[in-house]
Amino acid sequence: MVGNGAAAPSAAGVSSRVAYLERQATIESNARAYPRRLPIVIASGRGVVVRDVDGRDYIDCLAGAGALALGHSHPAVIQAIRQALDDGAPLQTLDLPTPLKDEFTRTLFESLPAAFAEDYKIHFCGPTGADAVEAALKLVKTATGRKGVLAFHGAYHGMTQGAMSVTGDTAPKIPAEGRAADVQFLPFPSEYRCPFGMGAQASAEISARSLEAALEDPSCGLLPPAALIMEIVQGEGGVNPAPDDWLRKVREITARHGVLLIVDEVQTGLGRTGRLYAFEQPDILPDVVILSKAIGGGLPLSVILYRRELDVWRPGAHAGTFRGNQLAFAAGAAAIRFVMSNHLERHAQAAGARLQSLLTGIAAETSCIGHVRGRGLMRGVEIHDPRSVGAAAGVGVVPSASAIARRVQEECLRRGLIVELGGRHGVVVRFLPPLVATLAEIDEIAQRFGEAVKAVEASRVSQ
Ligand SMILES: Cc1ncc(COP(=O)(O)O)c(C=O)c1O
Repeated sequence: MVGNGAAAPSAAGVSSRVAYLERQATIESNARAYPRRLPIVIASGRGVVVRDVDGRDYIDCLAGAGALALGHSHPAVIQAIRQALDDGAPLQTLDLPTPLKDEFTRTLFESLPAAFAEDYKIHFCGPTGADAVEAALKLVKTATGRKGVLAFHGAYHGMTQGAMSVTGDTAPKIPAEGRAADVQFLPFPSEYRCPFGMGAQASAEISARSLEAALEDPSCGLLPPAALIMEIVQGEGGVNPAPDDWLRKVREITARHGVLLIVDEVQTGLGRTGRLYAFEQPDILPDVVILSKAIGGGLPLSVILYRRELDVWRPGAHAGTFRGNQLAFAAGAAAIRFVMSNHLERHAQAAGARLQSLLTGIAAETSCIGHVRGRGLMRGVEIHDPRSVGAAAGVGVVPSASAIARRVQEECLRRGLIVELGGRHGVVVRFLPPLVATLAEIDEIAQRFGEAVKAVEASRVSQ
């Protein structure tokens, strides 16, 4: 049994999980999201395990939506934060230089391909992923003098107005008027849900051709865009990895047409996909890279990196108070150093391959799993309803099964496994465990997931 070894919370003064959740529901916004499907109250955490206020342990495959690359309470991160506090570091300093910021910047550039140190600049943002997306959009528009942006179906870039405007999911946009009109969406290749109903290979080819047509056809109705923004593995959109050849083609087409390529590595960055940065696998160089989540070691931090020649925006063009979080710089530098010195990206690749094979085994033994996919320790299992899957399986719009996926998530939680749902109709069970997960912990994750799926199937048979 995997446990976190953390001390059980004292009973005195601690209400049960239910009481916390009830108080939260009374006072917090209706827009709150995670506690609705993951009704837990976390009191402590260590490694891949969190403990709730009632002393129950869970393996955390959400891990701060990918922000906790080193898991909970990692000694390297805790030590760096303690040291910063002991040294009397100011807590926040706007965008003034400080020794901790300087050290963070140096460490981050060391983790990036060599071209970055020579040719790219860094801008510290908000500190959320969405704020960095806003900065990237402003930068590319300023640098090119163009207004339009291309984005992909299934993309997720955040919930602020600009970031949401380049996000695929339409649900949050419908009530929020004022979304940007200058965004054009293109189909993203998909092995399982080919948007053209033609299957994996054709999906990538047609998608690249649509991009080419959008940029070359003088009658396609599109003005030359400033940039194309994309994730290399769409995360919230359902763990959709883009094929390497297609990515190289996209890079070539955008470069040929003077369209800047923004790669959003908010979720994939720092080892998650089996490479330190996901764009390294297809060996492409984006014009702008967006980073957040893991690079702050679990504390809020976000940056954009961009080619030097784009640095034409005026002083103060993207300002914000909380861009100088010194503890995040300390924690982030420690996390980056730890990932690099322990080659956690390679571990993520090996552990991810193992998880993929275990999940594929579970899919073979059960009937409600349509597809298992991902890169490194970013995996997704697409749930389908075996009763409604017909000849269309594998191509086109595959029938989805939101209610079954929600039941699987519930059964996982009952077995002490935290997983999140994503993708269209919320049918993809997402695994984002900390990169420090051991192979034994990966086995335990798969074991609990397999039991959960079987329990859901058994209950459906008996209905
Ligand atoms: C790829 C990607 N971009 C941007 C964001 C937005 O980041 P934040 O939630 O910190 O605003 C996310 C969040 O999940 C993300 O996955």
